[in-house]
Amino acid sequence: MKDSYRNFANSDVGSRLTGWLGLPRPLPLARYRAGQAVIDAPLLIGGSDGAELLPALAGVLHAIQAQPLGHPELAAWPAVAAQAGLASRPWGGSEESVGALLFDATGLQESSQGEALYQFFHDTVRSLLPCGRVIILGRPPELCKQPRQATVQRALEGLSRSLGKELKRAIAVQLVYVAPGAEQQLESTLRFLLSPRSAYVSGQVVRVGLPVATAAAPADWAQPLAGQRVLVTGAAQGIGAAIAERLAADGAAVSCLDIPAAAQLLEGVAERVGGSALALDLSAADAAAQLTAAAPAGGWQVVVHNAGITRDKTIAKMSPRLWQSVVDINLSVQERINDALLEAGALASGGRIVCVSSMSGIAGNFGQTNYAFSKAGVIGMVQSMAPLLAERGITINAVAPGFIETQMTAAMPLMTREAGRRLNSMSQGGLPVDVAETIGWLASPGSAGLTGNVIRVCGQSLLGA
Ligand SMILES: NC(=O)c1ccc[n+]([C@@H]2O[C@H](COP(=O)([O-])OP(=O)(O)OC[C@H]3O[C@@H](n4cnc5c(N)ncnc54)[C@H](O)[C@@H]3O)[C@@H](O)[C@H]2O)c1
Repeated sequence: MKDSYRNFANSDVGSRLTGWLGLPRPLPLARYRAGQAVIDAPLLIGGSDGAELLPALAGVLHAIQAQPLGHPELAAWPAVAAQAGLASRPWGGSEESVGALLFDATGLQESSQGEALYQFFHDTVRSLLPCGRVIILGRPPELCKQPRQATVQRALEGLSRSLGKELKRAIAVQLVYVAPGAEQQLESTLRFLLSPRSAYVSGQVVRVGLPVATAAAPADWAQPLAGQRVLVTGAAQGIGAAIAERLAADGAAVSCLDIPAAAQLLEGVAERVGGSALALDLSAADAAAQLTAAAPAGGWQVVVHNAGITRDKTIAKMSPRLWQSVVDINLSVQERINDALLEAGALASGGRIVCVSSMSGIAGNFGQTNYAFSKAGVIGMVQSMAPLLAERGITINAVAPGFIETQMTAAMPLMTREAGRRLNSMSQGGLPVDVAETIGWLASPGSAGLTGNVIRVCGQSLLGA
């Protein structure tokens, strides 16, 4: 649906008027175009004393052919860059614009050293281009041996989330916690977070851990899912159709599933993505058995649980049927299917499960006790199953969309829709492709170090942050 306010706010008259009235001016987000480089503007590297991830960072920047600039305070950088064969030069100062700021904070041992962060960002944030990126790298507090180290590493969350709210101009800010020993797992995450693919993801905390299975990086990062078999539920329209399109563009053979009543739409999507259509009501008693029977030889390598429904009513007015159908389709179905696919060997070892939760599951929402229960349950399922599935070499993660422009949100009353669009750091709604891009990252063979994560695709919504 057209965002008339955004169009107006970016017109000559509109930009003056919104500036004068202090209203948000949502910049059009730069999104990924096929064949585009990960990042085409220079990026500026900073870090604390004792920063531990610089060699890994230099390796990734070399692989993505980035143009790094070293901050003068980071004395260790020129030698690390040279060792990685990376052409890097010193930053020219506040007059030189950059597309991203990367700060390695892994060396911070106690809070008083946090001043290095203040100095770096104080000096540099004004040089960031619109739609730029900020990435702070830290160590997971829960794995730090010393309380003071855990404290300062945890403090990074407050800094990164506040930067996301402060910087505006469609700049996305993330904190990436990298477990000791997981340095080589960074590439898929940096490729995603630095690129226009993550346009509507901001204020997130990503945990990169040891890989669940020995995984080779994709032979071709432009086609990371080449030759892979993927199942997408709820694929006939909206976000599910965008996921099918995105994963097919990444090289996957996509089985597109939806209810029989949506068969015509579903076949259209399957044809468009060169995949197959599977008309099946997942709430049917024998759905899991039917699905395992329909699995391709060797099973699916990626399963995306996207099918979902809303049946909103306040709890006092809600019928048992509305409660039960939402919880069943959004949550219990996912549990039953996971169990059945695993038992039948229809989810390949080294596979990926990606679930679609919702911001409602994090923040709660008026009239959505059933929906929020189901979507919070999806997060519980992801977090509880991650360690168990890791033993089988499988990752499980969730995306939690915020306000996404779909038929569902187009049907909202005007004021609710406008509030949903504006109450986030990007001051606009996301698109189905933003959710799809995030799922593409989590589904990648390069993401074996990502499991148990819940990534919000919400432009850093002010709700539940
Ligand atoms: N649109 C948003 O802003 C938003 C926000 C947060 C979360 N989500 C979640 O994203 C997912 C997709 O949402 P959407 O906006 O594209 O919704 P949508 O209604 O356009 O698509 C959902 C699809 O799931 C299918 N489906 C429903 N019940 C099914 C069943 N029993 N068996 C098989 N398929 C079934 C539907 O037929 C439909 O094609 C849902 O899980 C939703 O809860 C959406």
